[in-house]
Amino acid sequence: YLTIDDFDMEGKTVLVRVDLNVPMDPEDNILDDMRIKSHIPTLRDLEDARVVLLAHQSRAGKSDFTTMRPHAERMSRYLGKEVEYVDDIFGSHARSRITSMKKGDVILLENVRFYAEESLERSSKAHSQTHMVKKLSPVIDIFLNDAFAVSHRSQLSIMGFTEVLPTGAGRVMEKEISSLDRGIKGGECPCVFVLGGAKVDDSLNVTDNVLSNGSVDRVLLTGVVANVMLAASGVNIGKANMDFIESQGYLDQIERGRKLLDKFDGKIGLPIDVALNDDGKRIEVQVEELPSDQLPINDIGLETIVAYSKEIRNAKTVVLNGPAGLSELDPFALGTHEIIKAAVHSEYSIAGGGHISAEIRNLGYEDRFSHLSTGGGACIDYLAGMVLPGIEALRTAAARYRNNP
Ligand code: 3PG
Repeated sequence: YLTIDDFDMEGKTVLVRVDLNVPMDPEDNILDDMRIKSHIPTLRDLEDARVVLLAHQSRAGKSDFTTMRPHAERMSRYLGKEVEYVDDIFGSHARSRITSMKKGDVILLENVRFYAEESLERSSKAHSQTHMVKKLSPVIDIFLNDAFAVSHRSQLSIMGFTEVLPTGAGRVMEKEISSLDRGIKGGECPCVFVLGGAKVDDSLNVTDNVLSNGSVDRVLLTGVVANVMLAASGVNIGKANMDFIESQGYLDQIERGRKLLDKFDGKIGLPIDVALNDDGKRIEVQVEELPSDQLPINDIGLETIVAYSKEIRNAKTVVLNGPAGLSELDPFALGTHEIIKAAVHSEYSIAGGGHISAEIRNLGYEDRFSHLSTGGGACIDYLAGMVLPGIEALRTAAARYRNNP
């Protein structure tokens, strides 16, 4: 793929797809800004260009699905000059602001997922025919994909512009690819993946993939995906937890989980105990003591923490993805914190996903990991050996550009 170094950026209008998707509270406060900070080196290397940033925050229907204004403010602080928020994506307001930009200006367009077509997963060809690409590409010279963290999705702003504009990778994308490649190549056995968080479908895809291709010895599950798999294994996890799984649209994953448990007997680790949330108080119970119809499971239990930590410490390569529980609530951060502390003992440790990275920084452990990925699902898919459509599109675009610059 091509990079910033392959183009003369002086005076060019460069559209950069960045990943600024950060944890936010209901008042639009940014809870962790690692991803925002991560793109500063890319912006510094584009100082002579006119930079148009395109990004998303969360997904439609979620409470943190909101505007990019706070992100622009935070980025301005790190960059030391204004990153102007423009509350439009590709309408006449956005386009006229782009055409009036001066060298050195940086603007951030509105949350690209406010536009429904963005979230369709299609080919770069199909996406290149959309209104967004047709309207924006005439006012742009070069497209850069610096959004490694969303490049596992073949969504419009990742794919569409690569067909019609000279295209390259930004600095975050370059660093992720080289660090994760080092992890895969240097990855020694035993290799353990610890998967948690709330993106159940992604985590089960990875489990299936890494256990099928044999690149991982054990997958230890935590978080919502562990609850789904406990249900799949026949544990009655109770109404509160089942309702939550249903509200997230993951009921169908229980059947899928059953098949995975049959297929990979002994290779998938499940919690033996959990922590329930009783009005903010942590209550430890064995999984056999479930169901608890009113109280949600918000963390893995103490015995699971001990057992998982032992396996993690004995592994040579450890990959953590997603928190073990509701780590933003103190009593339920224990599982996530202990897993982080265990992981730094292994030779090569990688962590991915916004929430777990935030906890690593809260603990002051960021320098003790071999690599902290900006990606959650993207990191894990990449390590699992899957082809990321966004990276594939960069390679295709580079081949086309080399043949016909
Ligand atoms: C992430 O947070 O992993 C990326 O920003 C992608 O977000 P998504 O899972 O909502 O597509």
